[in-house]
Amino acid sequence: MKIVKTIAEVRTQVKEWRAQGLTVGLVPTMGYLHEGHASLIEASHRDNDRTVVSDFVNPMQFGPTEDLESYPRDLERDAQVVEEHGGDLIFNPEPEEMYHEGFSSFVDMTVLTQELCGLSRPIHFRGVCTVVSKLFNIVKPDRAYFGKKDAQQLAVIRHMVDDLNMDIEIVGCPIIREADGLAKSSRNTYLSPAERKAALVLSQAINLGKAMVGEGIKDAAEITGAMKAHINAEPLAKIDYVKIVDCATMQQIDVLDRPALCAIAVYIGKTRLIDNFFTEDV
Ligand code: PAF
Repeated sequence: MKIVKTIAEVRTQVKEWRAQGLTVGLVPTMGYLHEGHASLIEASHRDNDRTVVSDFVNPMQFGPTEDLESYPRDLERDAQVVEEHGGDLIFNPEPEEMYHEGFSSFVDMTVLTQELCGLSRPIHFRGVCTVVSKLFNIVKPDRAYFGKKDAQQLAVIRHMVDDLNMDIEIVGCPIIREADGLAKSSRNTYLSPAERKAALVLSQAINLGKAMVGEGIKDAAEITGAMKAHINAEPLAKIDYVKIVDCATMQQIDVLDRPALCAIAVYIGKTRLIDNFFTEDV
C-alpha cells in the first residue's frame, strides 16, 4: 500500500495498472476513516483489481462557519485502515495540489442540491461535485464507492455522472452503525459523552419512521411529525430537517405513493449529524 501526494504520482500508478489490464476502484473520502469507509474499501477490493482511496478534507465543500479547521485528520491511522481492508493506494494531496492558484472552474447542479442539506449548506454540493469530478479525472476509475448515509450526495453524484456522461459506475453502500444504532461518522468524534448518548435520538427516530412505514402509514406529515416529537424530547438535540422526499427529485412529498427517502439532519450541541432510510428498504 502506497501513499502519494501528487496528481502526477496517481496518474503514473494508475497507468501502470491499466497497462497490466487491471480494473480500478475509487473510494473518495475526507479521511479519519471508520468502519463505514472500511466497508466501501472492501466493496471496491471485491469488485476491482486495485483500489485507490482519496484522503482529502476538501475546503471547497465547507461553508465559512463550518468545521473545516477542526475536521479530524489522522493519515497514519487511515493508512492502517486502508491496508487492512484491501486498498492499494492513498491519494492525500495538499489543498494547493487540488486547487492551484487561479483555480476557477466548478461543477454545479441546479436540481437535487437545493433541498435537504443544500438548504442549510448552500455551497456544499458545488464543492462536492467539483472535487469528485476532479478525482474522477485524476484516477479515471471503473467504479466509485459512496455511502448511503449521505443519500443526497449519492443522488447528486449519480445525476452528475449521468448528465456529464462520465463513464464510471457509481456504487452505493449500506449505512454502517455503531452497536447502539448511531450511524458511523467522522464527526461523531466531536460528541461529548452526554452528546454521544443524546445522539441516539437520530437512529431512534429513524427506527420509529421505519416502523410507521412498515405499518402501512402513507401520510408523510404523520411520520415526520412523530419523528420530530421524539427528537425534540431530547434537550441537546436541535432539528435542522426531518423530511420525506421523492428519491428521484429530492422534492418533499405528502403521500408515500412512490419510492421515497426519509432523511434527517439534527444538531447535537454544535455537531450536525445526518441519518436516513429508504422506504423501499422497509
Ligand atoms: O462524503 C465525503 O466524505 C465527501 O463529501 C467526498 C465525497 C469525499 C468529497 O469530498
